[in-house]
Amino acid sequence: MDNWTSAIVVGASSGIGEAVARRLAAADVRVALLARRGDEIERIAREIGGERAVARVHDVRDVGDGAGVADLWDDIEAAIGTVDLLVFAAGAMIPVGEHEYTFAKDRAMLEVNLLGAAAWCDQAAVRMEAARRGTIVGISSIAGDRGRRGAPAYAASKAGFTTLLEALRNRLARAGVNVVTIRPGFVDTAMTRGMKGLFWLISADRAAAIILRHARTGRSRDRHVPARWWLVSAVIRSIPSWIFRKLSI
Ligand SMILES: NC(=O)c1ccc[n+]([C@@H]2O[C@H](COP(=O)([O-])OP(=O)(O)OC[C@H]3O[C@@H](n4cnc5c(N)ncnc54)[C@H](OP(=O)(O)O)[C@@H]3O)[C@@H](O)[C@H]2O)c1
Repeated sequence: MDNWTSAIVVGASSGIGEAVARRLAAADVRVALLARRGDEIERIAREIGGERAVARVHDVRDVGDGAGVADLWDDIEAAIGTVDLLVFAAGAMIPVGEHEYTFAKDRAMLEVNLLGAAAWCDQAAVRMEAARRGTIVGISSIAGDRGRRGAPAYAASKAGFTTLLEALRNRLARAGVNVVTIRPGFVDTAMTRGMKGLFWLISADRAAAIILRHARTGRSRDRHVPARWWLVSAVIRSIPSWIFRKLSI
């Protein structure tokens, strides 16, 4: 079992990230909440209670060469102590039309979901490998399982993140650092609000409980949340390409 003392949650202003941050704080883990909406993370930090939570406004599209992430990590550690858990929950899913190919939208999703994730996971890897302990949790998605016609760049960003996490897991295992990939199904958050045809929808708090249960085992793993999505994933991955292209998923 992993007992963390201090955590960074990137994308903590709403949805899954907020729920994870609240659950960590309730378990006496000091938490740094990061997101662009300062008013939201400050409100959540206040509700959690001053000593256990700090808020830092951060746009993961502004990671530059990564040096800013290192500085921000130092600043957070000065406030809450050595960080032994990173949860990267920030994510952007921008709707695109059936015949739309807008690079600005694709770039925004790739910058948040993949480049931003790499900047934060790299920083965690450097520090945790040196410390020979720690946990990295990445919230990826079953959307990365296939190239879906409805969301090309979102699917690509999540496929990339899933692969990045697997590679980090394989590198960091020898240093005793756990890397946990989470592939949620449908979760009731701002990201899915108003979407049609959702099923097996769970609350963000339920998702957070399952995510932390997997992360706390102290084992590196790749898990669907809830587990029954594993079956959906397996079926979707097994559909031949020529059939998959005829489906509307
Ligand atoms: N909901 C689902 O059904 C579902 C399913 C599979 C995977 N996921 C993944 O789960 C993760 C959490 O999403 P959610 O469902 O909880 O949606 P959400 O409520 O919209 O949360 C998204 C979070 O990402 C942050 N974020 C977005 N762009 C950012 C940026 N440029 N810089 C910093 N933070 C940024 C948002 O904060 P600010 O806007 O304040 O910056 C917010 O805290 C995402 O990676 C999503 O892809 C969700």
